[in-house]
Order: sequence, then C-alpha cells, then structure tokens
Amino acid sequence: MDNFEEFKQKVKDANDIVSVVSKYVTLNRKGKTWWANCPFHYEKTPSFAVNGQEQYYHCFGCGVSGDIFSFVQHMENCDFFDALKILAENAGLSVPDFSGVQHDSERKKEREQIYAVLRDAAIHYCKNLNLNESKPALEYIAKRKLNSEAIKAFGLGYSLGWNEVVDYLKKLGYSYEIMQKAGIVEKNQYGKYYDVFAKRLIFPIINSNDNVVGFSARVLDPKMNPKYRNTGDTPVFQKNELVYGINLIKKLKRSEPLNEIIIVEGQMDVISVYKAGVKNAVACLGTALTPNHAKQLKRFCDKVVVCFDGDGAGKKATLRSLDILVNAGLNVFVASMPAGVDPDEYVLKYGVESYKQLINDAKYWVEYLICEYANKYNLKRADERNLFVVSSLNIIKKLESNTEKNVYLEMVKNFSNVSMDVLRKDLENIDELKIDDTKVEEKDEPLTTKENAYVKAVKFVLSALLHKKEYASLNDDIKDNLLDNDIIKLYNYIENCKTNGKMPIVSHVFDLFNVENNPLINDIVNFNFTEINDTKEYYEDCVNLLIKSGLEMKQKDLALKISLTSDIDERKKLSLELSNIILKQNKFRK
Ligand code: UTP
Ligand code: MN
Repeated sequence: MDNFEEFKQKVKDANDIVSVVSKYVTLNRKGKTWWANCPFHYEKTPSFAVNGQEQYYHCFGCGVSGDIFSFVQHMENCDFFDALKILAENAGLSVPDFSGVQHDSERKKEREQIYAVLRDAAIHYCKNLNLNESKPALEYIAKRKLNSEAIKAFGLGYSLGWNEVVDYLKKLGYSYEIMQKAGIVEKNQYGKYYDVFAKRLIFPIINSNDNVVGFSARVLDPKMNPKYRNTGDTPVFQKNELVYGINLIKKLKRSEPLNEIIIVEGQMDVISVYKAGVKNAVACLGTALTPNHAKQLKRFCDKVVVCFDGDGAGKKATLRSLDILVNAGLNVFVASMPAGVDPDEYVLKYGVESYKQLINDAKYWVEYLICEYANKYNLKRADERNLFVVSSLNIIKKLESNTEKNVYLEMVKNFSNVSMDVLRKDLENIDELKIDDTKVEEKDEPLTTKENAYVKAVKFVLSALLHKKEYASLNDDIKDNLLDNDIIKLYNYIENCKTNGKMPIVSHVFDLFNVENNPLINDIVNFNFTEINDTKEYYEDCVNLLIKSGLEMKQKDLALKISLTSDIDERKKLSLELSNIILKQNKFRK
C-alpha cells in the first residue's frame, strides 16, 4: 500500500496541473493564476482558476475543485485508477502491478466486468428494436408518441424473451455469475438462468460517468406486473443514490447555462419532456428521494424544481422530499401539476410552452408550504387558524434573512388576518422554542452537519491556516477544542508541515480526504475570503469563539458523564478534567 501511495505521489510530482489542464482547455495567465472557461459548466467569462503553486483547480462559478487526478477523472469520465494510469503514461512512468492492493484490484476487475456486461446488454436491447419481433415495443413507443431522437438519447430497447439476451451474452463470453451480479438474470427453479426484463421495454440507467449501471423495464402486456421492474442494488448500482437522466444533465451543463434541475416522478416523464425540448429533468426510480439523491443533484446545480404528479401520492412525495432537498443546501421550488396528471401527460395535452410556464411559476418551497397549510386548515375556524399560523411560523423561522421572513409573514397575515406585530412576536417566541430543539439535535447529529457559530468559526480558522494567511497561526488551545475527526486530521496535517519547516499545500488535502463528498472539508478548501472576513480581527474573534464554545461543549459533556457514572474513581477523574476545563474557561472569559 505504501508502495501505492508513493507511486501516486510520484505521478503527482511528475505532472504539473497547469500542463495537464491545458491539454483540455485553453488557459490564460493573470498573475500567479491561470484562468479558463470552466469545462464543467457553461460560461462566457472565465472563472475556472488553476493554481500552479498549490497544484489545484477551483471554479468560482460552479464551485468544483480538485487535483490532477480528479480533473482527469471528470474530463475522461473514468475512475481514479484509470486517471492514475493516464497521468503516469503522460509522464513516461510505467504503472507497477500493486500486489498489495490485490483485493481492490480484483473488486475493480469485477466492477469492470459488470459495467461491460451491462453495456453489451444495453446495446443488444437497443438493436432489437430494429427487428420485426419488436413490434409490440415499437407500437407502444408510437402510442407514447416518442420519436427516434428520444429513443437514441435514452438508449431505449426491448427484450425479446426469457433467454435471448442471456444466450447472446454467454456467446460473448460472460459467465452467468457476472450476469447475475449485474442484475440482468436470475435462476429459475430448474436452475436455468432467465432475463429478468423479458418482454419489457428497456430503459438503461446511466450514471454521470456514462456507464450503464442498471435497467428499468416497463411491461407492454398489461396482464404482467409489476409495471416497472428495476435493477436491485448491485456492486455498481444503488437505487438510493442513482438519478435517472444525470448523464444527460452533465452533458447539458457543459454546453449551456444550467439554471435549474427539474425533478419528476418517472422515467417516462423525463423522456417525454425531453422530447418536447425540456432537457433538464431527472427522476429517482422506484424509490422515494433520499439525501444521496439530493447530494448528486447539488453536484450539478443549486436550484431544483420539484414537479411530481398532481395526485395525493405526488403531494405526499413532494412534502417528504422538501426537507431533504433544503437540508442538502438546495434552492427548492415546487411546480404544481393539475390533479391526476403527470408531466408526460401534461406536455402531450397542453403543450411544452404551457409546461415551461408551469415550471417558471414554481413556488419557493416556503410559499408552497404556507399555501398547503392554508388549504389544509379551515381558516374560518379560530382554532384551525391558530394551527395554520403556528405551522407556517415553524417554516418561516428557518429562513435566514429578515427581509425574507417579512415577505412570508405578510403572506401568513393575508391568510389569517393576524397582524404583523403579533406574528413577529410569535415568531420570536418560536425561536426560543427552537433553541430547545437544537440542543436535542446537537446530541444525536454529528457536529459537521449543522452550521452553527462554532462550525462557522472552525471553518474560518482552518481555512485561514490552510491558505497561509499571515494573521493565522497554530496554537494548542485551538487544537484542544477541535471536536470533529476530519478537522483534527486536517489540523494535524498543517501542524506536521510546520514542524517540518514546510508550508501546507492545498493539493495535499485532496490526498487526505475525498473532498468532493466531504462538505466540511470542501468548504475549507474552497473558502470564500471576503473583504469583511479576511482580517486579523475576524480571525481572532473566530479563534475565541471556537475555544469558548469548544470548552462549553466539553464542559456539558463531562457534566453529563459525571452524572451517569457511579464508579468513584471514574467520577474523580472526570471531575478533575471538569475543573481544568472550568479553569480554562475563566482564562478565556477575560
Ligand atoms: P407511475 O406509476 O406514476 O408511472 O410511477 P409513470 O411514470 O406514469 O409510467 P407510465 O407513464 O405508466 O409508463 C412512477 C415511477 O415509479 C416507478 C417508475 O420509475 C415509474 O416511472 N415505478 C412505478 C416502479 O419502480 N415500479 C412500479 O411498479 C411502478
Ligand atoms: Mn405516466
């Protein structure tokens, strides 16, 4: 493994990020930084910066960042190992066989076989559509008013029967075992393998790296069920994170501005609106929206419009998804469909312009919820009016700016006839209640997911240290009051550099963490220093706050532990720790 880390470092040292990036995009130098139009989102003026000194890139427009490996991974749609190979060859290094990472490479081999068999199956299903035997599928496609462009863009296909694709794949040399692992076949009671998507219209599911990872397949014979059959979880497919259509979103984002992503319920909706010219819709297949789905979307866009079916189930799904999307940091809007209609039917019935208008008219999630409550409660009754106000205030309290709060209070006032003064006061009281439930949350939620003052301070202090601000220096009181393991790891890295007489380098952070999937570290690497915060005073305020809140949290934690311990020695030890903390607190209070 060491061997492997060493080689990785060697490849990193041998490739200058400026020349790697310049193979793909045109860079222009301004001062120490090289600039380009971002290859990951559409733009007319360059906001993609490459820092040769620190060997990393960062786009000020869409927020992506990384080192040479992640850059090549994204540009070539490949995984880490392939990027390593490309970059090694680039530098004239031959890639050694890492016997130490044997297990990993075996797993990788299996994944590659799964990708390969899925791709071959998908291509075969597609080709089937040209055959006479595919008449049922073609008739159905015509009935659903899909055209050849849509069939091609989504790679639709047809399974001719129970064995046809199985025999074909076997002839290509794939084992039944790998077909089963890929989710294409199952064994029947006689031990024979059969195509689980037999006689169905096939929708390949493709990830953002353009790999086929699974299938969703619709019945054509109404007597068969379930209506859709989807690949179950496999080594390359997890239904709780895969977003149908994300591959096309990635492509779209590179060629034109992507202002929002529309989330619809089913793949037929995605395809139908695509055919009509709305190319930014996606769906979660066969499952409710999860935080993992939200994370995938956030990688591509900050704004989403939820556009589920206009029925009870659609409304329920909308309500359930709002919290998840908002918590993922997305700007969330809701477009309401008429009752009993899905986007597919809507576009066919009312036309695409009308659909676009409906998306344009989507309500901000706060407004959507207030209107929902206004519908749910009978506002003519005093008791229900009260419930309406409390429910709405509970939403409004989550907003950050006072202006925003005021806008929605106004709306509540109009529905309820309660005066603004009273609503404002109640909102304050609700805030007091909120302190209570944040306390409860703090216990079970990992610190990192909650943006409170402490986390903000930690982020700033670590960013200043990592980005070598002259006003920032290490000290043990900071270190002692870091409570998150990743943050401690990052601090130790910076400390290590300094003890060895070196400077921390941002590019190394990408070796220590999977930055893209680590929001806390990502925020630190890409910290936005502004005129207001980039000062000694602000830094010192943050250090103070960090230490004070750190001590306070430790104090609470110790007090709790003491109250729960009956062992005398243990209690003594904890009490001593507690008095040390209190001493420190006194020192910092001054
Ligand atoms: P719908 O039943 O609303 O289907 O399910 P739809 O999208 O309108 O499909 P068509 O128009 O009848 O062809 C919405 C989504 O839920 C998933 C599918 O992804 C579907 O697109 N689903 C539905 C399943 O996974 N299994 C099922 O049996 C039904
Ligand atoms: Mn439908």
